[in-house]
Amino acid sequence: MKLVIVYASTGGNTRETAELAARGAESAGASVDSYNAYGLDASILLEAQAILLGEPTWGDGEHHADWLPFDRGMHELLVPGCRLQGVPAAAFVGCDRAYRNFGRAIELVEDRLVECGARIMQRGLKIELKHNEHSRVFTRQWARDFVLRARGELPPQPYRPAMTREQADAVMGIGADERTGRERRGLG
Ligand SMILES: Cc1cc2nc3c(=O)[nH]c(=O)nc-3n(C[C@H](O)[C@H](O)[C@H](O)COP(=O)(O)O)c2cc1C
Repeated sequence: MKLVIVYASTGGNTRETAELAARGAESAGASVDSYNAYGLDASILLEAQAILLGEPTWGDGEHHADWLPFDRGMHELLVPGCRLQGVPAAAFVGCDRAYRNFGRAIELVEDRLVECGARIMQRGLKIELKHNEHSRVFTRQWARDFVLRARGELPPQPYRPAMTREQADAVMGIGADERTGRERRGLG
């Protein structure tokens, strides 16, 4: 299975998610091509048998600037005729709870994939601020599970509602106690 991963990143966190996802997918037997979205032609997705797309949430719950031309390309080239019809896909984003629209880019990316005809196979992954050892393990497994779902070896997972803050905390290995402490210290 040829998996295409496309990502945008300013600080490197979402690039690391893409790299970890590539390793996880390869461990399930996928062959992975990974690209930075900046300057990338959306037609690259026509080569894919499975797709993972990711960007940091930017602005106030918006696309990252580097993602916008790629998203426009998807809209112009792939929405007409639903040219990703039935292609398994999932999304990953960077996020930060200090912002009102926590990780909202995930919905934007997923909606575009659906408009192109792709089939979202599992809940999108939200990585808050910066990876740690827990989130690295989680991300590799998330991508591995995605490949198994794309091959029909695991059932599809509902992707809405999107990952909550609590679920994103579980990705980062932050427990309820610590969350309360963070909130008390004004970090939550
Ligand atoms: C200008 C700016 C705007 C942001 N807006 C949001 C936002 O609306 N919602 C959110 O959850 N995170 C937001 N973030 C947090 C980033 O998505 C998060 O820090 C991410 O890990 C950055 O990924 P990167 O290291 O790949 O660039 C914003 C960050 C910056 C710098």
